[in-house]
Amino acid sequence: MTESSANVAGAGAGEEKLITHPDRNLAMELVRATEAAAIRAVPFIGRGDKNAADGAAVDAMRKFLATVEFQGQVVIGEGEKDEAPMLFNGEIVGNGRGPLCDIAVDPIDGTSLTAAGRPNALSVIAVADRGTMYNPKDLFYMDKIVTGPEGQGIIDLDKPIGENIRALAKAKGKPVEEMVVAVLDRPRHEQLIREIREAGAGTELILDGDVAGGINAARHEPRIDMCAGIGGTPEGIITACAIKSLGGVMQGRWYPRNEEERERAIAAGHDLDAVLSADDLVKTDNCYFVATGVTDGGLVQGVRRVRDRIYTDSVVLRAHSGTLRRVIAEHLETKWL
Ligand code: FBP
Repeated sequence: MTESSANVAGAGAGEEKLITHPDRNLAMELVRATEAAAIRAVPFIGRGDKNAADGAAVDAMRKFLATVEFQGQVVIGEGEKDEAPMLFNGEIVGNGRGPLCDIAVDPIDGTSLTAAGRPNALSVIAVADRGTMYNPKDLFYMDKIVTGPEGQGIIDLDKPIGENIRALAKAKGKPVEEMVVAVLDRPRHEQLIREIREAGAGTELILDGDVAGGINAARHEPRIDMCAGIGGTPEGIITACAIKSLGGVMQGRWYPRNEEERERAIAAGHDLDAVLSADDLVKTDNCYFVATGVTDGGLVQGVRRVRDRIYTDSVVLRAHSGTLRRVIAEHLETKWL
């Protein structure tokens, strides 16, 4: 975080103690906010109302963020101020002390999954030094490709997917037939899915939630070798924070859905032809990613209640050190009534 302007709460009057190192505890604090969002979303799992689930998660996340010692500015939030009452883009969150950060939130990645009672819904936050996260204003979708570290210097979004799969398989010392590519199950991906299968690889078609898809592809013991296709831009920036922590590879390109979006994006100064790396999307290694499971998934388990306890399962990733921590928390249910 920006060290020069960060001070430590609790320093005596007049003695402003500068933080000389970025606060690695910040991510452990932020996990409280994703835990809260996941817990508050539980009553809405399988109830068919994705907006209610999202609203409960947003509300809980915002309340907890207000207690965290940092000065976060929402770069990726729930939308513009007029349509999003909370966690809107540009909103300042945190307790007003501590490091200056950019923050990207997705209180539930997988609102439809949650509403349907399906697996793989996550509550997610990513933070980075202030001014380092790409602001994708006016761009809603991007074409992405994510792999583990073996994809370094090999993956190329400009090349056909079959070529990328073969090159990655070679780098991993794995037969192409054993390669698995996660793709969002959407009509727009029909050709991509066909090409993956023609190359000899298998697909894992995901209903929603390409943040978890990307992370699962970049982890060290992956069942998925690659995550590819067009998904949300916010999810892309959030995934970039995680990928930097995992040492994986990510490439993306903006994907305007129509001429109007294209023109608006060009007018806003975005280069629509550029292939962007995780470093282009988040220009610092001082970034963190936290996620808590709402429903069970390949990355973490969903919220569980056993008698008077609520259990949450989260991951906390820190790019600077390349650490992935698993945080299993046991909460007293009475505190959440
Ligand atoms: P939300 O739950 O936040 O709506 O996002 C779910 C998601 O599947 C993302 O993970 C993905 O990037 C995006 O939606 C894909 O968009 P679309 O559903 O329009 O294809």
